[in-house]
Amino acid sequence: MAIVLKSRREIDMMRAAGKLAHDIIVKMAALVRPGVSTLEIDELAEEELVKAHAIGLSKNYPTYKPGEGFPASTCISVNEEVVHGIPSKERILKEGDIVTLDITPRMNGYCADTAITLPVGTVKPQMQKLIDVTKETLEIALRHIKPEKRWSEIARLMQYNVEKNGFSVVREFVGHGVGHSIHEDPKVPNFVTSEPVRGDFILRPGMTLAVEPMVVAGRRDVQLLDDGWTVITEDKQPAAHFEHTIAVTASGVDVLTDGREPWAL
Ligand code: MF3
Ligand code: CO
Ligand code: CO
Repeated sequence: MAIVLKSRREIDMMRAAGKLAHDIIVKMAALVRPGVSTLEIDELAEEELVKAHAIGLSKNYPTYKPGEGFPASTCISVNEEVVHGIPSKERILKEGDIVTLDITPRMNGYCADTAITLPVGTVKPQMQKLIDVTKETLEIALRHIKPEKRWSEIARLMQYNVEKNGFSVVREFVGHGVGHSIHEDPKVPNFVTSEPVRGDFILRPGMTLAVEPMVVAGRRDVQLLDDGWTVITEDKQPAAHFEHTIAVTASGVDVLTDGREPWAL
């Protein structure tokens, strides 16, 4: 595992990509309402990416099948879809759904990765709670990140918050380093296991990480749909997902996808 630390300049470049990611997700979120297709939301994101001379790194993301990368600029996942939902004109949002928007722009050679889950109109209290707990779990992680701590300390706090609320953490997908490419070392899990922690790492200033709890209302088991991408919960219970790209600083964390202007430091 080779974790590459980023310079102040590189982090500023990532913040510019992060600002774009934030701004696009805000525009996508404004489209979320009953009757809208997930493809319409993706197309808006694609237009904004083109305007900014950026690309969405989901597009053509390679799979094990040669020549069959992910087909869209963003991932949009509805209800029991956990991650990597394919935007589609057939998938029409309806009142009571929850929808996750996940975007990873690369601009001027630097990447940022961010996701949010939103209710479509009014949702069942249990689904709203799932959204709130997942968002809070990300916030807990960000509050506790400090240089010289082990990542597993943070992961334990995240898992604890999810499970004390009666929900489960997905194990098959985890956060990751991010910077020059979308997925860099290290792996950034949202859980710990009872085995001696493998792949644990110590937080250091200059690390840039995508922290992204994926939380499900029911059992944590997931399966892949026949489309080769969409990951759903086996029990078809809903899932939520929040993600920020952060830089570890000397004193804690600098969130690069919170919409702050790159120069407002
Ligand atoms: N944005 C996703 C992440 O959080 C990755 C998207 S790549 C795709 O890591 F191909 F799966 F879409
Ligand atoms: Co993402
Ligand atoms: Co990510």
